[in-house]
Amino acid sequence: MKQKLIVANWKMAPATQAEAQRILEFIDDYLSTIPEQKLFSLVVCPPFIFIEEVAKMLATYHLAHYSSLGAQDIFWENQTPHTGEISGPMLAKLGVRYVLIGHSERRWEMGESDNVVNQKLKAALQNELIPIVCVGEQIRDEEFRSFLQNQVRATFADLNFQEISKCIIAYEPVWAISSSPGARPDTPESALQSIQIIQETLGVTDNIILNGGSVTSGNVADFISLEQIQGVLVGGASLKKDEFVKILSVAATFHK
Ligand code: PGA
Repeated sequence: MKQKLIVANWKMAPATQAEAQRILEFIDDYLSTIPEQKLFSLVVCPPFIFIEEVAKMLATYHLAHYSSLGAQDIFWENQTPHTGEISGPMLAKLGVRYVLIGHSERRWEMGESDNVVNQKLKAALQNELIPIVCVGEQIRDEEFRSFLQNQVRATFADLNFQEISKCIIAYEPVWAISSSPGARPDTPESALQSIQIIQETLGVTDNIILNGGSVTSGNVADFISLEQIQGVLVGGASLKKDEFVKILSVAATFHK
């Protein structure tokens, strides 16, 4: 991949559509100052209620050259009645191209099992959405290797190599996510160790790999300067418009 991929996970924010528009306009202003030739790729994953409006904005101005729409979740079935859920066909109809699967907040706070994550992953592929599959250990202790191996095996269960190759893999250890108590960013060395475990477990080496957890403009280069890491998944910092544009401007310097 020539450009680095920056995924903005807005989670349950911002509070209003007007604020969502302000963030995107700010990014658009920045994009107007750099070449139209893509220096990085941007995916914005807003909360569902803003998806339609964000889709419209991403299709206009300079954002249209640089960005795609992502969703934060998907239901595992396409049609059956399920209160509160959003299906793959609904997302596709709204112009969604990417979908986060198995984010740790869903796994650990909403009790999403590996099996549920696996079903959602299959639903995304079936609907031709690009899954951004999040994996990562809760604690980096002496068990973390086998934890990661088991989680990865169960998450990607029953998928063939061709299907796995369509997935973007986001390594995001729970302890590094800014909302975790005592969160601290990962180091490039330990991220690389985990990425190697993930790739060996799946028997693949050519998936797009993202790193995530407390990414800021101050540490993003440490990760995306590595050949093995093609981008980052950014939570909290993606809602701070000045900080996020700084992250994008760092990513632009890694264009090949
Ligand atoms: P953070 O979140 O960047 O705020 O740590 C990342 C994520 O949860 O995807």
